[in-house]
Amino acid sequence: MSAAAAAGAPARYRVQPGGRIAGALTVPGDKSISHRALMLGAIAEGDTHITGFLNGADCLSTARALGQLGVRIEQPKPTEVLVHGVGATGLTGSDTALDMGNAGTAMRLFTGLLAPQRFNSTLIGDESLMRRPMQRVVVPLAMMGAQIRTHDGRPPVEVRGTPHLRAIHYSLPVASAQVKSAVLLAGLYAAGRTHLTEPAPSRDHTERMLAAFGVELGHEGRSIALEGGQTLEGTSIAVPADFSSAAFFIVAACLAASPSLRLGNVGVNPTRTGLIDLLRRMGADIRVHPRPPGGSPGGEPVADLEIRASQLHGITVAEAEVPLSIDEFPVFFIAAACATGETLVRGALELRVKESDRLAAMAAGLEALGVENQLLPDGLWIRGAEGLTGGTIDSRGDHRIAMAFAVAALRAAAPIEILDVANVATSFPGFVETARAAGLGLEAL
Ligand code: S3P
Repeated sequence: MSAAAAAGAPARYRVQPGGRIAGALTVPGDKSISHRALMLGAIAEGDTHITGFLNGADCLSTARALGQLGVRIEQPKPTEVLVHGVGATGLTGSDTALDMGNAGTAMRLFTGLLAPQRFNSTLIGDESLMRRPMQRVVVPLAMMGAQIRTHDGRPPVEVRGTPHLRAIHYSLPVASAQVKSAVLLAGLYAAGRTHLTEPAPSRDHTERMLAAFGVELGHEGRSIALEGGQTLEGTSIAVPADFSSAAFFIVAACLAASPSLRLGNVGVNPTRTGLIDLLRRMGADIRVHPRPPGGSPGGEPVADLEIRASQLHGITVAEAEVPLSIDEFPVFFIAAACATGETLVRGALELRVKESDRLAAMAAGLEALGVENQLLPDGLWIRGAEGLTGGTIDSRGDHRIAMAFAVAALRAAAPIEILDVANVATSFPGFVETARAAGLGLEAL
């Protein structure tokens, strides 16, 4: 059982069919940005003050691990954190393994951060994380001189700290912000200038936040360059609401807003908002009201979103669009199931190695709700249905699968029961209350 489940989180949801989505709400802080604010704050000189922090199980795993590494972290309020930076060389080793829980981002970024330290570390996680591929970070880090052992490319990750890494030129084989970030963190400690090239843009929160901490980064076309040995200065970071959490309500509102839904203070970094483009192409009415720049320390663009219902139609998603909405596919597939016509997604192999195999989990769940679909090696084909049936869905312990099927109930003819939902607490504490406030007939059991 995961830590979230052990903490008494609900085991399943029952969602009544139908409903009307309306009002104004703000979803919790961004998970990716919260992890990074903790880690960069830890190795900075001086204090870092974080507001809008995601007080979810994943980010708390990162905070706990940093505590084991000798970093003092205060949390005066659930969404406010003060990190007392220890400087680049101030981390100290932990006698016990660092438990990342369900957090793939934490494990991959910590691998990069810990490789150049003067002590050894072991990284472990929950059942799901222990099955996820880590070789993708080990390969470039090993090229830098890091000494890392895995078990057949999977955790536990055993890092033998080596304070003599060398900068590399590396072309990422997959667009992955986690791999990019792990190499950048190691690159901060390496001798020379690290160059990274991505096959397609992935989220750039690490680059933006490094700049906020005073680090100089070069952007050369699609490459990023970082000189090792730079000092981070503690700063203030305002974490915007997580676009990936907002996504469930964006789709819910497209399906059933009356008259409209407003989502406040949402992070709209263009490397994250691909879902807006996909839904607009399907006919969605989504308005983005940017908040004035300067209001958000940390370098992330923020906006209020206003969504009205519309009849969606199916589309074909191009492979290059996949990284820009990588975490939104579970709920995007629900939009496709409720659209007229066919939707096709290819080039999304990465979805098979997330918290669950998201292609397989979504195909099985849609099948259970009477939606015709075909699981492809690297994607999913869906024929939109007039209405969905009710049914029982196995979320496979994946937070985003669970929340996506809660949204599906808006178009169902009978209740939907969703199993194994404890891990919703990893990214979206308060999901049940927020969903009910928006108009979903959701009950936690
Ligand atoms: C994340 C990057 C993405 C994303 C994950 C968070 C990050 O993973 O799916 O939820 O914070 O860097 P990949 O780097 O594997 O694409």
